[in-house]
Amino acid sequence: MTETSSMAPAQQESGSQTLAVRASGVDRAFGGVQALRDASFAARPGEIHALAGENGAGKSTLIKVLCGLIKADRGTVEIFGTEVSRVVEPAARRRMGVATAFQELSLLPDLTVAENLLLENPPRGRLGLVKRRGLGPAAEEILGRYGVDDIDPRATAADLSVAQRQVVELVRVLAGEPRVVILDEPTAALADRQVEWLAGHMRQLRDAGSCVIFTSHRWREIEALADRVTVFRNGTHVATRDTLSEAEAVTLMSGRSFAGAYPELTTVPQRESALRVKGLHSGRLHGVDLDLRRGEILGVGGLAGQGQRDLFLTLFGAQKARQGTITLDGKAVAIRSTKDAIRAGIAYVPEDRKAEGLFLPLSIRDNIAAATLSRRNTAGFVRRGAERTAVGSIVDQLSIGKGRSTNRAVDTLSGGNQQKVVMARWLLTDARILLLFDVTRGVDAATKHDIYELVGKLAAQGRAILYYSSETEEIAHLCHRVLVLREGRVAAELAGPVGDAERIVAASIKENHDA
Ligand SMILES: Nc1ncnc2c1ncn2[C@@H]1O[C@H](COP(=O)(O)OP(=O)(O)OP(=O)(O)O)[C@@H](O)[C@H]1O
Ligand SMILES: [Mg+2]
Repeated sequence: MTETSSMAPAQQESGSQTLAVRASGVDRAFGGVQALRDASFAARPGEIHALAGENGAGKSTLIKVLCGLIKADRGTVEIFGTEVSRVVEPAARRRMGVATAFQELSLLPDLTVAENLLLENPPRGRLGLVKRRGLGPAAEEILGRYGVDDIDPRATAADLSVAQRQVVELVRVLAGEPRVVILDEPTAALADRQVEWLAGHMRQLRDAGSCVIFTSHRWREIEALADRVTVFRNGTHVATRDTLSEAEAVTLMSGRSFAGAYPELTTVPQRESALRVKGLHSGRLHGVDLDLRRGEILGVGGLAGQGQRDLFLTLFGAQKARQGTITLDGKAVAIRSTKDAIRAGIAYVPEDRKAEGLFLPLSIRDNIAAATLSRRNTAGFVRRGAERTAVGSIVDQLSIGKGRSTNRAVDTLSGGNQQKVVMARWLLTDARILLLFDVTRGVDAATKHDIYELVGKLAAQGRAILYYSSETEEIAHLCHRVLVLREGRVAAELAGPVGDAERIVAASIKENHDA
């Protein structure tokens, strides 16, 4: 494999062939934040080009400049050799064949799937009038063409799961058979099977000559899909390569290198049980028993959809159990609502910051403090000084927003940093039991590492942690013990650190002989 130099791609490739997309010398600031500085990027027709970088590196900002959603303060953008820097209008870019799926989904929540799919391109009758009645069948045809049979075109977008919304968004973008497709973290909300589905369509577009650009924080996706990778750091182009190892990429992205990707598991769980579950039936769960001890990180593994989410939601009181008992510190408790759970000292950190309802226009500090406010209010007032200190320390630990003010609104943070705010919010409470559900989704490698260390520290403090991740590797390395769920039951228990994710996978699919 050849390796191109890390010279700015715009210079390197000028004239050699027509580029699909080219940005050079782009600056873009938001208030005091310089999101892009002298940024360059170039991608060719007929390639899949990954754009990699830490949370806040400027990937989404560059994408918004490329697709005409926001204007560069300086610099030029060309689409197939035509300069478009002055035209800031997504519709004009779309007419040039540029289609974009944004990181923050842009479906209109009150419209149906069909309306969302056909908004820009409705079926028209002979007089050019939009055929309202034609929407359903047209949408069905499009979804069918992409093999999507589990989404009703008449459903309202707001009623879909996050993954389904992402699928609709992707179908909308792909269906136009664009010459340039830009997908900003398209897989963050998708299950493995859907990732495969998307990968197939990305390759198909590439093979038909389109330029496909995407971002991801999962290196194995980049490795599997990308013909070339561009790395951004601090708003600037660092390198463009044909091949790149994960270790090299992490170093390029963060300027740090990690000796071992996972911290060593040095703590030992205490003897006392923190949470005991017996015969739990809920959703897909059919009789789950578990015993989580203080200071323990207990992994929940298994193939996707074996009831992991049911377990977490039920323990947090967000889903009703049909049967079973829950004991906390030796006392039987009834958890009928999330309020009960919080009062009992249980915190749930989900993967989906949108569902968790961050208050986007509010400041980082207010969002993090939200979970603790009621406690502080018992004295009749919020102790602003104490709150500031506590929030400041957790913000530092997770390096949220690179040390800038915690007064900034959360919606000015990059996606990964928003996820960190969700974590920080719960970590500030004195919850003794932490339910961490896929918390490293959409988070960059350096931050993942910070989160792993934080999880270790929390366990060392004696908190009991139930840990699920769609990255089986994480469960294999971080947990004292791993329960493997299969068909709603605990199918195997492995002593940790398991080390080799394959062992968890094997336990997940093994035939059940004693049945
Ligand atoms: N509307 C905005 N107002 C203020 N600051 C912003 C705004 N949009 C982005 N920023 C800032 O610009 C920088 C780059 O953000 P961007 O969203 O482009 O990062 P990213 O590489 O896409 O990160 P992630 O991987 O987390 O999605 C960040 O510091 C972010 O906080
Ligand atoms: Mg982004």
